[in-house]
Amino acid sequence: MEITNVMEYETLAKEKLPKMIYDYYASGAEDQWTLNENRYAFSRTLFRPRILVDVSKIDMTTTVLGFNISMPIMVAPTAMQKMAHPDGEYATARASAAAGTIMTLSSWSTSSVEEVASTGPGVRFFQLYVYKDRNGFKAIVLTVDTPFVLPPNFSLKNFDELNPGKLDKTDDPGLASYFAGYAVAQDNNLITYISEGFLTAEDARIAVQYGVAGIIVSNHGARQLDYVPATVMALEEVVKATQNKVPVFLDGGIRRGTDILKHWLLIGRPVVFALAVDGEAGVRKTLQMLHDELELTMALSGCCSLAEITRNHIVAPWDPP
Ligand code: FNR
Repeated sequence: MEITNVMEYETLAKEKLPKMIYDYYASGAEDQWTLNENRYAFSRTLFRPRILVDVSKIDMTTTVLGFNISMPIMVAPTAMQKMAHPDGEYATARASAAAGTIMTLSSWSTSSVEEVASTGPGVRFFQLYVYKDRNGFKAIVLTVDTPFVLPPNFSLKNFDELNPGKLDKTDDPGLASYFAGYAVAQDNNLITYISEGFLTAEDARIAVQYGVAGIIVSNHGARQLDYVPATVMALEEVVKATQNKVPVFLDGGIRRGTDILKHWLLIGRPVVFALAVDGEAGVRKTLQMLHDELELTMALSGCCSLAEITRNHIVAPWDPP
């Protein structure tokens, strides 16, 4: 079957994967209201396309924290990718590098940092969970977004010496993962820290005060607290609160190039489902399809570069008619 858009990979992955694994990847919290809303909020955000613009040359390149990437689409951390495909995060790293974009490796990866690094050059971020212990001391711990027991034959490769049975025992996994962050390392030096999970101006202001290098507007793929707004609905509030002091990224429900015109983005599930269906080739194709859709969307909206995409090109649901 010829795959023509990112959503088709999910349909095929559902047929292919064991139900328990598909459900782990696909599901959201409780009633899944936020899961659906992440997607539908994009469909309520519309364009004001400009037509009297020469769009014969489209430039989609951008810079994230000083790293040049080919397009404003990056790969979000998703746990345990070897459950989707034997090549797991190794394949995702290769496909991301081939697409010229950044992959974020989850703390809960089933390929080790060394395996991923062995794929060769590429810009990679590492996601870690930071948890403030109730006894008053700080530690880096691991948590999962939903309580989940790793099936036999899979292990968390960066923590082989630990007993995986102990890893899902933070007493407050929800709170812990709101401290989720991406550590950005280059040549083994930790250079900066991006913090994820923001939906409010209040939290964004505090994060900026504490010196984060960037903010990701995220509701963790709607896997944590149900009935929080879709990320695209919270975006403007957070962007305004940061006063352009740090870059703001967004994830949750991105499945189309038309979604991407609305902001710099990371994708989670589309990578996992493409991986399940066709390994590295699937992830490459997913990134390529989103690239091509965004290019077409930019041309049809009259934007030749990302810098030319402005708020004037977008009609948000709360804008006056
Ligand atoms: C995640 N996400 C996530 N985030 C994180 O910081 N560490 C992790 O280990 C994981 N693991 C994970 C597993 C699965 C199966 C999913 C679906 C998500 C959240 C992820 O980084 C991102 O926020 C969402 O996936 C974005 O939403 P979409 O693109 O999946 O709709």
